[in-house]
Amino acid sequence: MTELKGLILSGGKGTRLRPITHTSAKQLVPVANRPVLFYGIQAMADAGIEEIGIIIAPETGDEIRAAAGDGERFGVRITYILQDEPAGLAHAVLTAEPFLRDSPFVMYLGDNLLQGGIGDLVHAFNEQRPDALILLTPVPDPENYGVAELRDGAVVRLVEKPPAPRTDLALVGVYMFTAAIHGAARAIKPSARGELEITDAIQRLVDDGLRVDPHVVRGWWKDTGRLEDMLAANRLVLDTIDTRIEGDLVDSQVDGRVIVERGARLERSTVRGPAIIGAGARLIDAYVGPYTAIGEECVVSNAEVEHSILLTGSEVRDLGDGRMESSLLGRNVRIGRDGRQPRAYRFLVGDNSEIGIL
Ligand code: DAU
Repeated sequence: MTELKGLILSGGKGTRLRPITHTSAKQLVPVANRPVLFYGIQAMADAGIEEIGIIIAPETGDEIRAAAGDGERFGVRITYILQDEPAGLAHAVLTAEPFLRDSPFVMYLGDNLLQGGIGDLVHAFNEQRPDALILLTPVPDPENYGVAELRDGAVVRLVEKPPAPRTDLALVGVYMFTAAIHGAARAIKPSARGELEITDAIQRLVDDGLRVDPHVVRGWWKDTGRLEDMLAANRLVLDTIDTRIEGDLVDSQVDGRVIVERGARLERSTVRGPAIIGAGARLIDAYVGPYTAIGEECVVSNAEVEHSILLTGSEVRDLGDGRMESSLLGRNVRIGRDGRQPRAYRFLVGDNSEIGIL
């Protein structure tokens, strides 16, 4: 068999995670201080895939390129493939055809996170040789996903975001394909939302009598497109970390599994794990609670932060009795009590932001 390649979809528009994704690609939003995208690249590298194509959009492509580079640090070779417009997942596959040629490939949506990697999947695909292999998992809100119907263990119908889903089995954003998918992607028409849907292309394979094997995912899976999902993904990944303290602790303590990166400094502070404190961050008279990722160069001073994600360079100061919780701060955000008169809330907030006050 020709060598298995990888295709990661990192184009599209991140409308659901605005305002964070006004200025940055949604695939680069960090989970436990690592861009979501890196988990997909790592999963492929761990499964022995050496050639990875990454689909990028004109607006965010440079940033993705700068972050992932040529792939050397993951032990893979990365080729960037520009998709001019976010015309759908099947359109992305067609855009990548010159890179993929007739190789079988794993397709991984760049904003998805899958526990346990893809090694088992690649093994099953190589052993059983179906024309495609899809991953499914039961979800409480199937109307937000591609939905599968099975009969006697075989895929009979796939529908993209049906208003009245017939099952609760969502399509997970990791797929394995043979080159048969290219013909199927060419044969379909754009959906109601104007996209060439991979779901419809896979349905086309089924209709043509090709074999599409379903695999139900056993571990957790997250599509990190929304705030709640980002926080949940952060929680799930932080649950797997081991303690590593490389920064300085001054009159401070850490409980449970905590990573304090090099150059971070804690003064009179407590960190309750699982939590990660990024390089160069400073905690002063602070409490950082479980399931929190503090990015590089952040400052938390005289404040309590729990179950939150702070991106690089953000500051939270002097919150008084109010604990910050279940929050996602972008880069270089500043939140704090300023003590100026008249006593008032003063905001400078970008489009589509959300603020909850006591
Ligand atoms: O997360 C699983 C779901 O992903 C599946 O259940 C659905 O069947 C599938 O259509 C997809 O739905 P989404 O609406 O969540 O896809 P989204 O537009 O978020 O795009 C997924 C990834 O692919 C994201 O990293 C952006 C990238 N993308 C998207 C489009 C539309 C591209 O690279 N190019 C594109 O044209």
